[in-house]
Amino acid sequence: MTSNGASRQIKPDPCSFIIFGVTGDLAHRLVIPALYNLAQSKLLPDEFCIVGITRHKMADTELRESLMKGLRKFATRPVDEAIANRLLGCLSCIDADPSDPGSFDRMATQLEALEKSRKTAGNRLFYMATPPSAFAPISQQLGRVGLLREDNGYWRRLVIEKPFGTDLASARALNHELLKVADEHQLYRIDHYLGKETVQNILVLRFANGMFEPIWNRNHIDHVQITVDEKLGVGHRGSFYDATGALRDMVPNHLFQLLSLVAMEPPARFDAHAVRSEKAEVLAAIQTQSEEEALRNSVRGQYLAGRIGDTDIEDYRKTKDVRPESPIETYAALKLTIDNWRWAGVPFYLRTGKALAAKRTEVAIKFKQAPFAMFRDTPVDRLSQNYFVIGIEPAEGITLQFNTKVPGPAIAIDGVEMKFLYKDYFKVEPSTGYETLIYDCMIGDNILFQRADSVEAGWQAVQPFLDVWKNLGAEGLEYYQAGSDGPEGSAALLIRDGRNWRKPS
Ligand code: BG6
Repeated sequence: MTSNGASRQIKPDPCSFIIFGVTGDLAHRLVIPALYNLAQSKLLPDEFCIVGITRHKMADTELRESLMKGLRKFATRPVDEAIANRLLGCLSCIDADPSDPGSFDRMATQLEALEKSRKTAGNRLFYMATPPSAFAPISQQLGRVGLLREDNGYWRRLVIEKPFGTDLASARALNHELLKVADEHQLYRIDHYLGKETVQNILVLRFANGMFEPIWNRNHIDHVQITVDEKLGVGHRGSFYDATGALRDMVPNHLFQLLSLVAMEPPARFDAHAVRSEKAEVLAAIQTQSEEEALRNSVRGQYLAGRIGDTDIEDYRKTKDVRPESPIETYAALKLTIDNWRWAGVPFYLRTGKALAAKRTEVAIKFKQAPFAMFRDTPVDRLSQNYFVIGIEPAEGITLQFNTKVPGPAIAIDGVEMKFLYKDYFKVEPSTGYETLIYDCMIGDNILFQRADSVEAGWQAVQPFLDVWKNLGAEGLEYYQAGSDGPEGSAALLIRDGRNWRKPS
């Protein structure tokens, strides 16, 4: 999303793309397939090289083969051999391990030599596709050997994957470490939700149309629901997940991206500073809840064995690398409020979980009911709900639900839908969702990346829930069957306010 509105035809500057964690899942599944899509769309610089950093020596050819295999498996478009060979042909492997500082000195020398031969002009994009525990040690070493210094007009950028911290204190500490070696403008904290078209479209929808803003507030909106339901269970990620849980994994990052775009004030300009300031502002306005409030306004669940489609799912606690008595939630639902003039009194209900009946990601904005019962045979509370739904999964688009008269002599009312689907209007090339983010990083546009203050504001808002759940352990954890709609308490969280989660039509 170029903030100056320019088309996506600009070629990024020559640069080296240096991947830490290149032998891992993320590099194989997303980063290289995204680079391939950019290469196919002719959006990579002409002078470009990929440098894979491994902890143990590996031959260039071995790494190329492994990444090529990954590309064939995970590519979102048919793989053109010539393009793939050209892309991976410019890959070299360098070994460096942050626990051996000398290896970073050697790496710096090798990298500089490589840059000369590849003519990448000294611009560097460091991509940390590593486990989070490596973010700080790697960046410290990069800083120490001077690889992040922006001199002679070169740029040096650092992409940091999620999870960014595990709570407020660790996120602050990580920001502190990173900011010791790089300036905020060099840091690109990635959240792949911002690579999704519909998520970016929330900004355009709200601020490029005059008709939504006048009703986008507490006078007209009853409440907002944000749902990220997943069908998949935890699978092979037991060890990560059992130290993380649904709340940490999804809420301060992905769900809060959706919330901040929906709830932010209009930025004065469409540039990274203005947009990111408004996003941080609204996250900071989420009311910090007391322990009692956090307990009352949250539900957590864990899945039990069940069947989803034709797949049997075992109990979460039987997953490999999960503790047999784990208190970790695989489902979280929260009620939040935002303390500002636009949203005072408008609840934001958030829910996310694994092993549910269907994959569904959406923001549903529920408008207030018509104020009185003019149609005597259809009392106000029986009129269908007025929802404005921003759909991200399974289909990207926007739906407006409203009431209409059923044809015939009597006044009978029924709810109908007006639907816009991206795929009907635009020819969209299948993508990994990372292309926009990687491209933006190469052209130096950080509008879609998270700034330190919004990451911390996000953790601040969820910290009371983390604290109260930690103190309770497994007490209060609800169990739900895999393939169901989640724990009963989640429905009850809205029912007690006289509301319901939206049911897709
Ligand atoms: C990741 C989480 O960040 O997002 C996963 O770690 C989750 O647990 C995934 O499955 C969801 O992303 P998407 O794009 O499928 O909604």
